[in-house]
Amino acid sequence: MGSAQIAILRITLAKMARVFSGIQPSGDLHLGNLLGALVNWVNHQEEHESVYCIVDLHALTLPKDAEELRSNTLELAQLLMAVGLDPDRCTLFVQSHVPEHSQLAWLMECTVSYGELSRMTAFKDKSDRSDFISAGLFTYPALQAADILLYDTDLVPVGDDQRQHIEITRDIAERFNHRFGETFVVPEHVIPPAGARVMDLQHPDRKMSKSQHSVNGTINVLESPDSVRKKIKRAVTDSDGEVRFDFESKAGVSNLLSILGAATNTSPEKVADSFERYGDLKTAAADAVVELLTPIQERFADLQADPAETRRLLQIGADKAREVASRTLMRAQQNCGLLEG
Ligand code: TYM
Repeated sequence: MGSAQIAILRITLAKMARVFSGIQPSGDLHLGNLLGALVNWVNHQEEHESVYCIVDLHALTLPKDAEELRSNTLELAQLLMAVGLDPDRCTLFVQSHVPEHSQLAWLMECTVSYGELSRMTAFKDKSDRSDFISAGLFTYPALQAADILLYDTDLVPVGDDQRQHIEITRDIAERFNHRFGETFVVPEHVIPPAGARVMDLQHPDRKMSKSQHSVNGTINVLESPDSVRKKIKRAVTDSDGEVRFDFESKAGVSNLLSILGAATNTSPEKVADSFERYGDLKTAAADAVVELLTPIQERFADLQADPAETRRLLQIGADKAREVASRTLMRAQQNCGLLEG
């Protein structure tokens, strides 16, 4: 067991852990989001006090159409509920509805250094692909740190691509605590054993992503069974014909093993033992993904029929979130020397 796992076990046993995570409303939800993060979110809400946030302010760091952002935000809330988040069991809200996120973000910006932000790989990737590089894209991790630290978060369930953002959040929390006295809980990331890195089916050397515009490499949570089967059937593999989990030299096959493993709660190595031919592996992976997505799609259709109810639930979520967030913000403001108003 590694030190991170021991720390997680300690936190979980000592008290009811608080879990926080976020997702951007930047278009369709894909299989990477589902297997890398959301399946874990649903599990955590059963055991821990869980807070989940649709991070619309983060989505503004890249140019967005206003109407699209608004409808993506509402649709994402419905998708998250369709995946299994239950507003009675967790706190589900929209980031911009809780102004404490922007307020704490400024304190975070003043605690993180230019050098630290310059080393963020997500910034390098996104700025390489964008014509307009906003200052917000650069300071993005400070807002993410505010999201997490506002809720005295112990555990942050995320996919592997968020590892660096959680590390910098820990550094910010420790620095603030060191300068101004104990203020923030220092969180741990929780990365799933399978599905932490779902790769593009056509380019298995890069992660499945909403922003890469790889239509055949990405599986959308709302995709039809036919289309899911076609995409998995056409997924890139290799010519050596051996079913083995080895991301270094067999990225395509390993990705399919990971997907099937995550969808059926089995380790990819164990999945590999059950198959001799790529074709059989692909059929099984497609069946498992279709089985996972079908009930989500059915629930989503029901939820979509009542947007007013979704808004009502999000309002309740924001009110619950604010109770905790306002207390933490006030503590941080007092500790760093802002005069009470
Ligand atoms: P976002 O919106 O890009 O992704 C949401 C979650 O999905 C995971 N994920 C993946 N997991 C496995 N394979 C993939 N191909 C894949 N693609 C995405 C991500 O790791 C993430 O867990 N910066 C965050 C949003 C955020 C946040 C936070 C997260 C803002 N504040 C506070 C945690 C805590 C992001 O852009 O995630």
